[in-house]
Amino acid sequence: MLDASFYLEIENKFRVNYPNKSSATYTSALNFSDDLSLTKQRWYRYKEGFSLGLIDSILNEYSQKNTEGVILDPFLGSGTTIIGANKFGKTGCGFEVNPFTVFLANLKTNKIKKEDIMSFTANYESIFKKDLSKVPEYPLPPLSFANKIFNEDIRCSFMKYRNLIDNFSEPSKSYLLLGWISILEEISNYRKAGNGLKIRKSKKKKEINVHNLLLNKYKNIQEDLLKSLEYKSYNNIIVNDSATKMMKYLSCKSVDGAIFSPPYANCFDYTEIYKLELRFGGFIKNKEDLKQLHKIALRSNLNSCEIKYSHSTKLIDIFINEMDESLWDKRIPRMLRGYFDDMFTVLDNLFNVIKDKGFCCIVVGNSTYGGVVVPTDLILAQYAQSIGFKVDKISVDRFVIPSSQQYNKTKNLSKFIRESVVCLKR
Ligand SMILES: C[S@@+](CC[C@H](N)C(=O)[O-])C[C@H]1O[C@@H](n2cnc3c(N)ncnc32)[C@H](O)[C@@H]1O
Repeated sequence: MLDASFYLEIENKFRVNYPNKSSATYTSALNFSDDLSLTKQRWYRYKEGFSLGLIDSILNEYSQKNTEGVILDPFLGSGTTIIGANKFGKTGCGFEVNPFTVFLANLKTNKIKKEDIMSFTANYESIFKKDLSKVPEYPLPPLSFANKIFNEDIRCSFMKYRNLIDNFSEPSKSYLLLGWISILEEISNYRKAGNGLKIRKSKKKKEINVHNLLLNKYKNIQEDLLKSLEYKSYNNIIVNDSATKMMKYLSCKSVDGAIFSPPYANCFDYTEIYKLELRFGGFIKNKEDLKQLHKIALRSNLNSCEIKYSHSTKLIDIFINEMDESLWDKRIPRMLRGYFDDMFTVLDNLFNVIKDKGFCCIVVGNSTYGGVVVPTDLILAQYAQSIGFKVDKISVDRFVIPSSQQYNKTKNLSKFIRESVVCLKR
């Protein structure tokens, strides 16, 4: 039985700030939904994203404003870190495996010319002048549940707009496609819930007007692009590859700092959750593409089947060996070993690419399985220290309530079930 003293023994090696103390720096700054009215962040609601406020706090603490430098996010998602880095006067660099989020992050962080914004505007306006009754519907992607995704009238206009988008050239076409994908969840009968897509209980009673939703989205994009012309632009780099392959692209000691939130060890399958965006946007064509995506993604979910480890699994096995019969899937131990093996590889790479005196801040959540708390923040801090990073502090952002089944078993360990920011110095 792992009791609180076991966790405290690891925790006491580090400076840990708890949220009820005034020294807990990042309380409540982790949430993307606070950013939904902000320029460019409003283009697509990326639920798992963190906030620009968090990036700003970290950069203010660990970096210097408006001096040259590169800030890296090895798990870029929707591009928040690059946007925040640019606002702070730094170039951004990111790795991301999901081609839809790469597309989104690229559009949010690319340089764009005024004449391209003008043609985007003219193009979307021309779309809304078309007589939709004369436009054929674009074919639905080959998903087993394709016919249930929309009510018929919604599907009809939505897929007709998709057809019109194909008539335009780049870069307009990509912005038009992004706006179109961005309204998909809102108009569909499915929503992202837990670890997958769930059909909405009450079939949409709310009035849905595809034309208005799309028009508003395009207006926001146009407005934000025009605003971006007022700011300095940067040669950001976004690589559509795994963070574990970082050394293929970056040289040693080439970045000033890293800020990121990796997938948590919580079985959340990003490939599954973003299936609609991936399929409707044409980023993956078939099951083979999907399989490939699962293969290169961090081993944070049960569909990852790779069982090779390049680091010792000894520490993780201590937790795994204590898990009881309430473990709900026998693949969880394999997932945890794979997850930490991949995260250790990413930390090894970061130690190589971050300059001396650089920093690395990791936003991460702990998990609970089979009556055992897996303290990801402490495990990552301990590993980082073992390879030469200095652990500056761990700032606990918030506590998480586990499922009712796990709640009683882990009651005495509740302070370790949390989301934190692990702050390292090189
Ligand atoms: C928590 S999200 C990051 C969100 C991001 N901070 C933002 O604000 O948008 C984690 C991201 O890691 C990506 N990911 C998963 N495995 C990866 C890997 N091996 N390399 C790079 N990115 C990966 C997922 O697709 C997901 O977009």
